[in-house]
Amino acid sequence: MLEMLNISKRLKAIADLVDTKKVIDVGCDHGYLYIYLTIYKDCHCIATDISKNAIKNCIDNINLYNLKDKIEVIVTDGINGIKINKEDTIVLSGMGTQTIIDILTNQNLSNNIIISSNNHLEELRKFMVKIGYYIDNEVYIVEHNIHYVIIKFKKGIRVDSIKGVSIFFPVKSPKGLKKSAGDKLFFFIEFFAFSELYTKMHGLRVSDNHS
Ligand SMILES: C[S@@+](CC[C@H](N)C(=O)[O-])C[C@H]1O[C@@H](n2cnc3c(N)ncnc32)[C@H](O)[C@@H]1O
Repeated sequence: MLEMLNISKRLKAIADLVDTKKVIDVGCDHGYLYIYLTIYKDCHCIATDISKNAIKNCIDNINLYNLKDKIEVIVTDGINGIKINKEDTIVLSGMGTQTIIDILTNQNLSNNIIISSNNHLEELRKFMVKIGYYIDNEVYIVEHNIHYVIIKFKKGIRVDSIKGVSIFFPVKSPKGLKKSAGDKLFFFIEFFAFSELYTKMHGLRVSDNHS
């Protein structure tokens, strides 16, 4: 069945990064990714595309694999009108960074987002960090001489990125207190303790095993 599906190395790499049971594949086009995820990873998938023609191809493929009870297919711009839970995974691949940013802006998003953008990766990374995500994993693929970067983002703050921020954090002693090395040290300890507490209170995953 996999041969018939002809799933690409790139789509397989995306599928390998999925670790949730519900997936929203945005800009699904042909639908191979979510067909693979449904058959081989037992996922429940929602597929969206802005193009009615793309969705028509999806439906044909879904019928071919007899999966019409397992996959929802919706014509919409991005994730408009889609109910998304925090524990789901949103996948956006094969679109440009600006389109991806437009899709993700001012939406209720899940904690797991996998993106393979066609361009401007630096801008994409900055945007994702700005809206509260960190890079959990990044995979580099070359297929038919085309280079692809697939990034898995998770909601929250990495411990090592908190440490990174501390280097640039403007150190100010509270008003009235003398600016001494002791104050600064105390400030940093408080800052780390608060960051940890905040992260735990909000149920955000703090990863400490990234290089
Ligand atoms: C190049 S295809 C990528 C298909 C598949 N995701 C992949 O990676 O192989 C891009 C798809 O994104 C869809 N698309 C573009 N803008 C979109 C938007 N704002 N919302 C939903 N789909 C969009 C297009 O119609 C097209 O089917």
